[in-house]
Amino acid sequence: MGVRLVSEIRKVVVVGGGIMGNGIAQVVATAGLEVTIVDLDEAALEKARARITKNVERGVERGRIEREEADAIVARLSTSTELEAAAAAADHAIETVVEDLEVKREVLAKLDASCRDDVILASNTSQFSISALATATGRPDRVIGSHWFNPPPVMDLIEVIRGVETSDETLATTLELCERYGKRTVVCEKDTPGFITSRLIIALGLEAMRIVEEGIASAADVNLACVKAFNHAMGPLDTLDFSGLDTTLHVAENMREQYGERFIAPQNLRVLVNGGHLGRKSGRGFTDYEKPN
Ligand SMILES: NC(=O)c1ccc[n+]([C@@H]2O[C@H](COP(=O)([O-])OP(=O)(O)OC[C@H]3O[C@@H](n4cnc5c(N)ncnc54)[C@H](O)[C@@H]3O)[C@@H](O)[C@H]2O)c1
Repeated sequence: MGVRLVSEIRKVVVVGGGIMGNGIAQVVATAGLEVTIVDLDEAALEKARARITKNVERGVERGRIEREEADAIVARLSTSTELEAAAAAADHAIETVVEDLEVKREVLAKLDASCRDDVILASNTSQFSISALATATGRPDRVIGSHWFNPPPVMDLIEVIRGVETSDETLATTLELCERYGKRTVVCEKDTPGFITSRLIIALGLEAMRIVEEGIASAADVNLACVKAFNHAMGPLDTLDFSGLDTTLHVAENMREQYGERFIAPQNLRVLVNGGHLGRKSGRGFTDYEKPN
């Protein structure tokens, strides 16, 4: 089955209006496409709209966007709690609901039932198998992973993941669409746990945690070493604090199951998570965010 050409893609449906959904929708609308954010939760939709409007207004204040363009971006945005109707009108679909395999499979099955046959279904999962998600649909050749980074308007990369059944046409169209969004892409050719980016950051992060646990260096020095020695924008422990240590532990445990002992989570990570210290969002992780710098 063929897929819609990028030049024919005018309307995008983004399912899930959380942290990632609203950022992705902002990028899509900025690229000149109409976008509908779908969420079960009206409050999440209101928050998403408010956040996008605020970001775009900030762009005008800082002279990055013209007033007219800002109004056009906001005008291209709509929100809905009706997945079926939004999906039926869409030329492309992005799923970015909570990281729960069953919820994602349910959403993809609904998108499959409502979207036209030539519509690609893209998942923003951070770790689930694209092939496993694709089996919830009757179009596994038109299902693909497109993994964005937080915050989507700022981060200049989309990691594209090919499932076992993903067609060459689906991959080529997705890469072209990402280019239209103004993003760089990397392709994970095999549907493997953690893809490229989660596998690398978890490996580096777990080793950084072990250096701290062994009393070899402080978390601050491990972060600074990576920033200054390797030119990383942020140290690995700061990066994982930002993502959430609960999510980090969850991903590490999944990777250990798949790749073996090299992904075993150290005790200092477990202790922080058990104590409710989940990183930036709870005020404390490997760094204490309540302390003034
Ligand atoms: N937060 C990050 O840094 C990050 C980075 C890359 C990828 N991701 C991935 O993006 C996805 C979303 O993450 P997030 O951080 O935006 O989560 P979030 O919790 O902020 O948002 C998820 C949204 O999905 C909605 N939702 C849940 N079930 C739904 C359904 N059946 N139909 C419609 N909406 C539904 C929720 O109401 C919520 O608003 C996850 O797969 C996550 O792994 C997150």
